[in-house]
Amino acid sequence: MVHHTPRYDLVIFGATGFVGRILCRYLLEQVGVNGSWAIASRSEAKLNALVSDLGASSLPQIIADVTDEDSLRDLCAQTQVVISTVGPYALYGEPLVKICAETGTDYCDLTGEPQWIRRMIQRYSATAEQSGARIIHCCGFDSIPSDFGVYYLQQQAKQRFGQVCDRIKMRVKAAQGGVSGGTAASGINLVKEASADPALRQELDNPYSLCPSQSLKHPPTLVPVQYDPDFQGWVSPFVMAAINTRIVLRSNALLEYAYGKRFQYDEAVLTGPNAIGWLAAQGLSVGLGGMAAAMAFSPTRWLLENTLIPKSGEGPSQTAQEQGFYDLRFWGTTAEGQTIQVKVTGDRDPGYGSTAKILGQAGLCLAEDFPPSAKAGGFWTPASMFGDVLIERLVKAAGLTFEVC
Ligand SMILES: NC(=O)c1ccc[n+]([C@@H]2O[C@H](COP(=O)([O-])OP(=O)(O)OC[C@H]3O[C@@H](n4cnc5c(N)ncnc54)[C@H](OP(=O)(O)O)[C@@H]3O)[C@@H](O)[C@H]2O)c1
Repeated sequence: MVHHTPRYDLVIFGATGFVGRILCRYLLEQVGVNGSWAIASRSEAKLNALVSDLGASSLPQIIADVTDEDSLRDLCAQTQVVISTVGPYALYGEPLVKICAETGTDYCDLTGEPQWIRRMIQRYSATAEQSGARIIHCCGFDSIPSDFGVYYLQQQAKQRFGQVCDRIKMRVKAAQGGVSGGTAASGINLVKEASADPALRQELDNPYSLCPSQSLKHPPTLVPVQYDPDFQGWVSPFVMAAINTRIVLRSNALLEYAYGKRFQYDEAVLTGPNAIGWLAAQGLSVGLGGMAAAMAFSPTRWLLENTLIPKSGEGPSQTAQEQGFYDLRFWGTTAEGQTIQVKVTGDRDPGYGSTAKILGQAGLCLAEDFPPSAKAGGFWTPASMFGDVLIERLVKAAGLTFEVC
């Protein structure tokens, strides 16, 4: 076990990026400038511009660059928890995960890149278990509403039926939001890696790719266009299902199969009843396939990167974030056929306004509610690490709701 007495509870690495800036503003509202947290980035000039923009010139600053291990070690020596928004993580994330694992520094991030998470688990689990570092990926819209929607539904099912559901499906009933440069770059990088690597394509087909044991059987998690009788409407594939389903299945494994070994989970977008719903589902599905194909092919990828897609540091406007929202529905069925529906909502756009609040609460929760004695080091999922404590925080201070409907 590595022990250090850090100066800060929390450091935000990537503070100058698009999500990083929203997160800093949120933490400022939540905590103020009280010496317990600091901001970090590779650029002193950008940090100065950020504190001036925030009106918080006394916010402590740290300079660190992912290409300079010593700077990351210095950052980790100063804090108990690092929140990293430096992405695409598959390109820039590994050095910090490695140093956190080695130094026993707790870590959370926003990655939605399953191939990278798998590499990190394989390479640094043993080190993190030994040092006591708790590493929690996917602490944004991917995958906290999904992971905790399932966790909450299972608690409710146990209370009502005396047993958990062995099948849950999540349907995006409504959502409004946009995309940032960092998110687009992460998606493009994943498609690029997958088109060059057949083994990775196979791995991305395995719903248990992030689970310790992969001997269980699970149907494909990408739901095609089809009519869903439980929701009385058409559904279409959901772009975040690839990461969310894997996190939910890993949570089940880390919670010692609290949802059962036969547990199945999938996600899709609900497009509505009748012919209009069918048409919208087909349109979404074709649009998603077309986007993936365009990203895989270098001339169209170049065109996308240089025309339609936002650049690093750019994303939806403040108004778009404030007007954004999401409404997710979870439908659970027990082995005996009892059913339950849970609704999870967020009050800002999923990817940024809401994600920044969720990530901030995950970081605070790690720093304030989980001393080293409370949970061992290793690679946790949000639900297996935080449980009810984070649900309380999300409802109280991050604009989320959880209810049976
Ligand atoms: N899970 C979710 O729900 C969710 C939601 C939103 C975003 N994301 C992910 O979050 C990540 C960030 O997104 P974003 O839109 O904020 O991206 P962004 O605006 O491009 O910000 C990236 C940050 O990384 C920093 N950075 C890049 N290279 C660095 C280096 N060598 N050393 C130190 N810092 C470096 C950038 O610093 P500079 O300012 O100096 O360039 C910037 O602060 C992406 O991977 C995205 O996919 C996930």
